Amino acid sequence: MPAFNDWTIPPELWEMIRPMLRPGMVTLETGSGLSTRLFDAAECRHTALEHDPRFAAESDSVLLKPLVGDPPWYDWEPVRPCELILIDGPPQYAGSRSGVLRVIDRLVTAGTVIVLDDTNRPDENQLAGCLAGRFALRRIDYRAGSRRRFSILAGDRKTSCRFWKGTVPFSLRENRDSPRVVCRSPRRRPQR
Ligand SMILES: C[S@@+](CC[C@H](N)C(=O)[O-])C[C@H]1O[C@@H](n2cnc3c(N)ncnc32)[C@H](O)[C@@H]1O
Repeated sequence: MPAFNDWTIPPELWEMIRPMLRPGMVTLETGSGLSTRLFDAAECRHTALEHDPRFAAESDSVLLKPLVGDPPWYDWEPVRPCELILIDGPPQYAGSRSGVLRVIDRLVTAGTVIVLDDTNRPDENQLAGCLAGRFALRRIDYRAGSRRRFSILAGDRKTSCRFWKGTVPFSLRENRDSPRVVCRSPRRRPQR
């Protein structure tokens, strides 16, 4: 198994995701890599969208799809909602990740948890805010190291606890070993 590095999600993010996973869970990530293997090892029904053929052979869960449109997004039609979505691609050189807004309504259902890496960047930060508002999810931002941030968007205890094995993410901030919470968004009403 390769190690965490600057291209992978930070280990602190995986520590947050891992307790949410159970075998057979329907999960999706954008941007394949180490995280794909970790989802595979957790026995999720996992799909990793990847645009770069160099990284497509890393796992059977990888779906090689070119980027199309502006902002760019994977040339792929969602087939079902997912229980957990990790947005970690396309890479910054390809453009903003806000192309996900073209398909997100077909991916999110009650209880879906959305995780965004790299929310220290303005585009990803804005996208996290937009998704939290769109689905009336609570947003918590975490710091990983001195520079990187990631965000977890989840519903209230009622809708999300079955994915969190009884521990909602919001209680993890009391755990000294967990990544530091840097911001909590207020609860919002659905916008649609
Ligand atoms: C942020 S990376 C995705 C990393 C993945 N989610 C993980 O945690 O391992 C986004 C994109 O960068 C590209 N990529 C992955 N590993 C790379 C590497 N070591 N060097 C250059 N590009 C890489 C792939 O095209 C991938 O879709």
